Amino acid sequence: MGADPSAWWKEGVFYQIYPRSFADSNGDGVGDLPGVIGRLDHLAWLGVDGIWLNPTTVSPDADWGYDVADYVGVQPVLGTLDDIDELIAEAARRQIRVLLDLVPNHTSSEHPWFVESRSSRDSPKRDWYVWGDPKSDGSPPNNWLSGFGGPAWTLDEATGQYYLHNFLPEQPDLNWWNEEVREEFDRILRFWFDRGIAGFRIDVVHMVVKDRQLRDNPPTTDEDHWFERFRGQRQVHNANRPEVHDVIRRWREVAESYDPPRILVGETHVFDAATLASFYGKGDELNLAFNFLLLHADFHAPALREVVEGTLAAIPPGGWPVWTAGNHDVYRFPSRWAGGDPLKARAALMMVLTLPGTAFLYYGDELGMPDTVVPESRIEDPVGRAYFPVYGRDPERTPMPWSPQPGAGFTEPGVEPWLPFGDYERCNVEDQRRDPESMVSLCRDLLGLRNAFPDLRQGAYEVVAADDAGLWAWRRGERTVVALNLADTPAAIDDVRGLVRISTHRARDGERLEGALRLAPWEGAIVWLDGPGP
Ligand code: GLC
Repeated sequence: MGADPSAWWKEGVFYQIYPRSFADSNGDGVGDLPGVIGRLDHLAWLGVDGIWLNPTTVSPDADWGYDVADYVGVQPVLGTLDDIDELIAEAARRQIRVLLDLVPNHTSSEHPWFVESRSSRDSPKRDWYVWGDPKSDGSPPNNWLSGFGGPAWTLDEATGQYYLHNFLPEQPDLNWWNEEVREEFDRILRFWFDRGIAGFRIDVVHMVVKDRQLRDNPPTTDEDHWFERFRGQRQVHNANRPEVHDVIRRWREVAESYDPPRILVGETHVFDAATLASFYGKGDELNLAFNFLLLHADFHAPALREVVEGTLAAIPPGGWPVWTAGNHDVYRFPSRWAGGDPLKARAALMMVLTLPGTAFLYYGDELGMPDTVVPESRIEDPVGRAYFPVYGRDPERTPMPWSPQPGAGFTEPGVEPWLPFGDYERCNVEDQRRDPESMVSLCRDLLGLRNAFPDLRQGAYEVVAADDAGLWAWRRGERTVVALNLADTPAAIDDVRGLVRISTHRARDGERLEGALRLAPWEGAIVWLDGPGP
């Protein structure tokens, strides 16, 4: 590592692991921590700098780990605290850092804190959660809606008050106005930082503080992002409160008290660049704020460009962008953006890995793994159950295909995994690693180029004018041009002199350009321009 302790995460590429679906070491059909350790060599081979694991803490799994019953324990089906320690050490041996998932907005309803809180109105932990009196007609305190459908309030018959849950009733929201809650989380952060993790991904970080007066949310208007309109409510009182920034600054202080400083990566599920940018504070809040504008954008050059340029313009000095094409809550990009067309998926991968900022891959992205069709009888996601057949999150959470053999290298042959396999005979790590034209080879070569070219890690973004509507090209730094032709027709940029370093059409790698860069439909290319050395 150089003198700048932030270089590793700013210039690096992270890889998100859904632990239940990555690798099953004990043949129970569920991925686990020893399984992750056993597959670290693949990640080192790929060239990633860090991993983020979805929750590994104790949970009754009403929402697959996002309902935490013990913040400093490890979910037994995934492993033990010793396994986490070993994972951190084994990853470090490969220059890979580990981020864990922190879920501060809510606990499980089975967490001892909530059990205590609901036991009586006089409980010392009553105020750790958000309780509200029924209205005179017995209805909930206000109009807030759960992100998973229905009211965000459930009546606790025994004590006669409603408790807030921005998600499932099994996920009661903590009251972040309570100083004891804040202090408890300081301890939780330290517990994991002391074990050597590099930082946290923080679940729904924009949401943790609620309006103290519990005011109604206003309805959405035509100007709002489609995702907000779908919900019908502007989340201004049950989320996105200005006071959340105090909490984030407090965490950042804890993170900065470590050497090297730990990092905070927030799930900032917001829909305009200015709000997103606010989570960087004055360089004293999140290190990285996930960009859902890109995730929810159409895969069209003008739409993508607008998001990227809008984000870059909004992020304050000292802030640093982060890009991802997928996670455990959205359909996989080879399906969502590319509609199953491998050419489009290759262009999308090139985009994410060459935009200015940190990049996050979701496990399987490196293979162009598509969504898996999950039949109704196999649905495990509570959202999938509630919204079947319209929406669900199981298709992007199915087992990682390591090999074409029975069990897919994920589990033992004959074992039925917790979620069904996709088509692992067609798409798997083993076959792709042998094929220089494959998506995994493209991914590895893109990461290698990022490492080799400072332009791709640090170079500023500058758009390159292009006439074709589907063409989006940008310069990174002095000598690197990325050009994506996101269209069914060929496109060209005039006056390009240099070398094609990587094209999604691999036969062109190494081609000299003397005048024009011509791109086939859905081709992406990275060109090293002639000129003085960097
Ligand atoms: C976040 C998680 C999602 C979870 C929700 C509630 O959005 O990414 O998986 O269901 O929070 O915790």
